[in-house]
Amino acid sequence: MPDFNALFDQWASSYDDTVYGKNHEYAEVFENYTKILDKISTQVEDKKSGTVIEIGVGTGNLSELLTKKGFHVIGIEPSSEMRKAAKVKIPSLEILDGHFLSLPLKQKVDAFVASYAFHHLTYAEKIESVKLMDGLLKPDGKIVIADTMFESKEYKLKLIEKVKADRAFNLLKDLYTEYYELIEDLIQIFRAQGYTYEIEKMNSYVWILTAQKN
Ligand SMILES: C[S@@+](CC[C@H](N)C(=O)[O-])C[C@H]1O[C@@H](n2cnc3c(N)ncnc32)[C@H](O)[C@@H]1O
Repeated sequence: MPDFNALFDQWASSYDDTVYGKNHEYAEVFENYTKILDKISTQVEDKKSGTVIEIGVGTGNLSELLTKKGFHVIGIEPSSEMRKAAKVKIPSLEILDGHFLSLPLKQKVDAFVASYAFHHLTYAEKIESVKLMDGLLKPDGKIVIADTMFESKEYKLKLIEKVKADRAFNLLKDLYTEYYELIEDLIQIFRAQGYTYEIEKMNSYVWILTAQKN
């Protein structure tokens, strides 16, 4: 059971205000949010005839986009309030109670996608999660992760200084406490499982990592 359930249950009703720019403290983290979701959908375009699993669906913005584009999506989300919010947005969405380390899937799938969610796992948990997803992917399957990650320790330190100067104290706390990785460390997890990867910067915080098993 993820540690963050209470926080996300509470955040569910106002979460969309944050991602669509009404929370100034987080504006840079969610800059280009719609573009980020769209880019994820492009990365799995070749999986349209298969099944795409979104983990950490939140209020359902990415699943909604994928559904509208004609993908068969199954959502997995540990927070009951987030599951309710997503279900209101996309009544047809199959959404399951689960999380990165407990994937309630009976069959192999074509892709896993996750936006702004993977950082809730420690590094050891990320390794475990990638192994789990890998075991549930069809040959040629993809894993697409959009999240805050850093090109270097120096970059992260500079960002922390800026956030301090901006007095964005909630974001500052996140930067100290959440499990954001260096890009190189994250890539290493996928490399170790035999994946090739592409990576693209989407704003000052978020990159999209697309990993494929060839
Ligand atoms: C910041 S929200 C992102 C929601 C959505 N993906 C988006 O891009 O707007 C993070 C989501 O991840 C979920 N979450 C937290 N820990 C998780 C875990 N261990 N496994 C899967 N989802 C998790 C939260 O409940 C929340 O809905």
